[in-house]
Amino acid sequence: MTLLTVLTYPDPQLKIESEPVSKFDDALRIFIADLEQTMRASPGGVGIAAPQVGCTQRIVIVDVSSKPKIQQHGRLILINPEIEQWEGMAKGREGCMSVPDFTGNVIRAERIHLKAQDEFGEFHQYDMQGYEARAVQHECDHLDGLLFLDRLVSRRHDLFPRKKV
Ligand code: NI
Repeated sequence: MTLLTVLTYPDPQLKIESEPVSKFDDALRIFIADLEQTMRASPGGVGIAAPQVGCTQRIVIVDVSSKPKIQQHGRLILINPEIEQWEGMAKGREGCMSVPDFTGNVIRAERIHLKAQDEFGEFHQYDMQGYEARAVQHECDHLDGLLFLDRLVSRRHDLFPRKKV
């Protein structure tokens, strides 16, 4: 497996709208393994989207199982994900591997209904809430060329420099 280079803001490639995946082959699954390894190499990384490594295809990985005591589905490979229902709204803090120096407050739906394919092309449906729903909405935004910076409640009051270790 290979660690992929994560593009960071303001790389223009992060603004590109990604294309649907149509071929569910070994090349796709090898890419997904590399993408997952890249996500797991980042401390606290709970999600990654293919365009963050310069691949403009609709591929997302989310795994919030490191957070204890929240409702979640474990490791999720989401290909061509479509959020079909939104419910409720909540403000919460987000970070992103492509915006390493900041976190920010963003309003997201509290509950979503999601349809997505897996790495073999099979369709699945998910009902999600809370932190997992937030992570999926954040990653799906990447597929449409959006960063959490584009959704800050207020650029002045809701953008926070990360403390340097
Ligand atoms: Ni992100």
